[in-house]
Amino acid sequence: MIIAIDGPAASGKGTIAKRLSAHYRLPHLDTGLLYRAVGKALLDAGAPLDDVARAEAAAKALDPARFDEDALKVHAVGEAASMISAIPQVRAALLSLQKTFAQQPGGAVLDGRDIGTVIAPDAPVKIFVVASPEVRALRRFKELQGRGEPITQADVLADILKRDTRDRERAAAPLVAAADAHHLDTTALDVEGAVKAAIALVEAKRR
Ligand code: DC
Repeated sequence: MIIAIDGPAASGKGTIAKRLSAHYRLPHLDTGLLYRAVGKALLDAGAPLDDVARAEAAAKALDPARFDEDALKVHAVGEAASMISAIPQVRAALLSLQKTFAQQPGGAVLDGRDIGTVIAPDAPVKIFVVASPEVRALRRFKELQGRGEPITQADVLADILKRDTRDRERAAAPLVAAADAHHLDTTALDVEGAVKAAIALVEAKRR
């Protein structure tokens, strides 16, 4: 069973994906980490984020086995990821890794922006997770605060709104719900409520 989870930043999709992966004992790929790793490679090299050749080379050279998740979850890396993810050559370079992960025997859980539309359009279960920008900003602010990042809640909200626009309006694989995706609004839900609702969606599909 392939479970495809998409949604904007801090919608809760990552947490839901991790919990579904544990619940159904399926391997999980957080595809945002791939784009974050490319963004970080450019930041580390001091290269501009619109350097297509360098971004494509970084995408081709990725080794997910060596990812340092803490370093990739930094706010600035998320912003860089959103920029380089609009480059079609970067998306193309990351395609086969993601498709292969999705198609592995036994199934998988993947979360990102284009899982239900591009990476696994035949996934039997597609969940599009949403939440209000204010609630998402508060969640991300608390997460970044917990990591000791000096940032205000207002700045996080402004960045989330900018990122939403960038992710939705790019030409290459924009953030959009697949026509057959179930929408899950987590604005008023805590983690347990969101996970319960997601499991109910999966179970309804399995029946
Ligand atoms: O989910 P995240 O915040 O870790 O993702 C960081 C950025 O990577 C996001 O702003 C857009 C990009 N991304 C993408 O374009 N496609 C994906 N499948 C996953 C992430």
